[in-house]
Amino acid sequence: MSVVAVLTAAGSGSRLGHALPKAVVPVAGAPLVAHAARALLAARAADGSRVTALVVTAPAEHVAAVADALRGVGDDRAPAVPVRVVVGGATRQASVAAGLAALPPDADVVLVHDAARAFAPPALVARVVDAVHAGHGAVVPGLPVVDTVKRVAAWDADGGPVLDTPPRDVLRAVQTPQGFARDVLVHAHALGADRAGDEATAASDDAGLVEAAGGRVWVVPGDERAAKITTPRDVVLAEALHAAPAPGGTL
Ligand code: CTP
Ligand code: MG
Repeated sequence: MSVVAVLTAAGSGSRLGHALPKAVVPVAGAPLVAHAARALLAARAADGSRVTALVVTAPAEHVAAVADALRGVGDDRAPAVPVRVVVGGATRQASVAAGLAALPPDADVVLVHDAARAFAPPALVARVVDAVHAGHGAVVPGLPVVDTVKRVAAWDADGGPVLDTPPRDVLRAVQTPQGFARDVLVHAHALGADRAGDEATAASDDAGLVEAAGGRVWVVPGDERAAKITTPRDVVLAEALHAAPAPGGTL
């Protein structure tokens, strides 16, 4: 089966506060989008399949910078594949939709991955693809939640009243890459297209669109290394983790 990936890199990174868009900010020796692409290309599913094409979303004024960041991203472990950089949209949902419109026609399985989750390991990518191959039309990686989570009504600068406390054992904080049978994802985006133009209505992940379309979503175990780089603190942590020797002493 042919696996392709939409790599979302069209955000500005406002919370990171860097002069460059977040995806091209260098961390641990390479732009975030290059780390993320390399992990996608290095992944091998149980049946030997791998990502054979990348569609990358970029801010309109930074298409060339994102393309430059991805030049030569393949290596021995991660052979080069066709990379197409497209202009993203006003929201992440709109950017993914733009990426889907540029998919190669032969793609059966589509991964959607955030450049901001630059250090998601290849084994996580493979786990998601394997679950799609096993018959799940939509797959997300998720980690148990360590904090107690409250639902809050009418939040403002002074705070807001608690509605309720969902039981923690059923909660999972979800990550990317998320994996889909192509038709499931394309159908969900088409049904939810009217939400895409505005941050207030847009889906924050693609599986949410599948749920809204009445589809089933399967959660596989996530990985701490796939944490999203959002603030300067996350960059410090990512640099430190990258510099640390792996358990057992070898990388
Ligand atoms: N993204 C995108 N198009 C958008 C918004 C976000 O492709 N219109 C991508 C980002 O590049 C990122 C991922 O979606 O890889 C997750 O978004 P987030 O972490 O929120 O990144 P930014 O939107 O860039 O950051 P911020 O919200 O702090 O501005
Ligand atoms: Mg954002």
